[in-house]
Amino acid sequence: MRVSLEDLKASCLQCQRCDLAKERKHVVVSRGHPSARLMVIGEAPGADEDAQGRPFVGRSGRLLDACLTEVGLDQADDTYICNLIKCRPPGNRRPTPAELKACRPWLDRQILEVNPEILFILGATATATLLECRTPISRLRGHWTEWKGRCVMPSFHPSYLLRNPSREPGKPHSLFMADLTHVKHALNGAVSGLTPDSSDR
Ligand code: URA
Repeated sequence: MRVSLEDLKASCLQCQRCDLAKERKHVVVSRGHPSARLMVIGEAPGADEDAQGRPFVGRSGRLLDACLTEVGLDQADDTYICNLIKCRPPGNRRPTPAELKACRPWLDRQILEVNPEILFILGATATATLLECRTPISRLRGHWTEWKGRCVMPSFHPSYLLRNPSREPGKPHSLFMADLTHVKHALNGAVSGLTPDSSDR
């Protein structure tokens, strides 16, 4: 890992910026490749992530990894995976605005250090927070947008796919796979779809 990311991780592990620090078992910083071209951003660690200190290691994470594999992406080599906030909210509740604000500098530093070309954002909370926009995820997903010069593809959170397991066309799982396939094509250099498109939002 690069020195700057190691520093970031070491400081993040000591973080006391909000009350989530009191109940956490681990700070959950990241997994994956430190200079991946693709950064995957979820919402917050759950119980499994809190126990292991790594993001997306529970059911949602296993599904995420399987979907990445299905489009030909390796979670360890091709992605850097992290969350909006680094400590588990009790009972997996939504992070509060104060927690999101307190934790935000860590994510901003991760984005700067890893310097990914593409951000794949999982779920409504992560999307609304990062893009500072209230458009429903159902309308944002599947469309490239731009954030601070980076290409962003919002999509559903894997936990939503677990709650809606049908793989029929038009259902969340197949829409998620279509979004991830756009990302894979963009990484392969098929960049025509990368123009931020807000025409139908
Ligand atoms: N859900 C998330 O958003 N992140 C995780 O790390 C695990 C579940």
